[in-house]
Amino acid sequence: MKIKTFMLVVWVIILFSNFTYQDTKPGIDSLKEAFKNDFTIGTALNSAQIEERNPTVNNLIIQQFNVATPENVMKSALLQPKWGIYDFKMADKLIEYGNKHNIKINGHTLIWHSQLPGFMRRMQSTDSVKTFFNDHIKTVAGHYKGKVFSWDVVNEALNEDGTLRNSIFLQKLGEGYIAEAFRLTQEASPDTELYYNDYNNEQPAKRAGCIKLIKKIQESGARIDGVGIQGHWHLGKIPLKDIEESILAYSALGIKVMITELDIEILPRNFQGADVSQRLANTTESNPYPNGLPDSIQKQLADDYEALFKLFLKHKDKIARVTFWGVNDGDSWLNNWPIRGRTNYPLLFDRNNEPKPAYFKVIGLKQ
Ligand code: XIL
Repeated sequence: MKIKTFMLVVWVIILFSNFTYQDTKPGIDSLKEAFKNDFTIGTALNSAQIEERNPTVNNLIIQQFNVATPENVMKSALLQPKWGIYDFKMADKLIEYGNKHNIKINGHTLIWHSQLPGFMRRMQSTDSVKTFFNDHIKTVAGHYKGKVFSWDVVNEALNEDGTLRNSIFLQKLGEGYIAEAFRLTQEASPDTELYYNDYNNEQPAKRAGCIKLIKKIQESGARIDGVGIQGHWHLGKIPLKDIEESILAYSALGIKVMITELDIEILPRNFQGADVSQRLANTTESNPYPNGLPDSIQKQLADDYEALFKLFLKHKDKIARVTFWGVNDGDSWLNNWPIRGRTNYPLLFDRNNEPKPAYFKVIGLKQ
């Protein structure tokens, strides 16, 4: 009798688990759940997503991600369109969105040479630049005190050879501006994590410059909690060795390592990195897959993502977050940069918000 009851229970469990399995589409799960003991999983959000305009996209975001970075709405051109006049409307909506859906917000970004307000780009006097620098950080970091989990305090301050980029900030304020940005942000928002973020900073020369930059911040007495490796990489050319060496080297500085803007470029381009001012002309060869991705490329993309996540899992004790730069292929900035109007496929979800083979490879590492 007892055995019979036991067998019945086992049978019911098997039947039930089988039903739920089929119910939720085989294999489809949630990245944030799968990696919850390893690192947080983020995405970049645009205005339409923050306003929840498309319910399918919205459900996907809520299901998959537990942290988000605004793709544009916290950049200085958008937050301070006129000198001293701030527009927090859209960025405040992002904070509400995060609260509502239990998604932590990484502020992006306080000090960056791109997407600066027009008035700022034309500034000549050192005093004006200093005023902008101080006021922007104090006002924005102060406004989001206790509301954002972290800030990309400074973005892309380095050249490829590891020297400091000749930005308006370096020209007018000298190299101390970086540590000063961290000090001011900490003062305005003491409990927020503070990061330095860049692209190609897994490459040896730029990495060496980045390490120097981080050490200078630390030596100045300001706090830095982490470094972001943007992770705009290229199909079949993921620099796994450089990435691993960088994870180890940055972590040895006592800070968190994050992959902050992950996507894999599959279209032809004659340079690497993510300098938003670089643009190329549109030709017929530059957009080879307007109607869909050949299987061989889909497979390579899946293999590349799998190799990356294997590496991230190997160093999960050093990696705090992995953020994709966009929710699905249709939203990706790579459809319009560095060439406008292309059809790109860099992410884990396709234009219909369906998971791609790459998604199953990534999540398969945890199943
Ligand atoms: C990109 C956005 O995705 C685009 O919508 C915008 O037109 C340009 O900037 N490095 C960064 C991000 O730190 O802020 C950039 O985002 C991509 C490169």
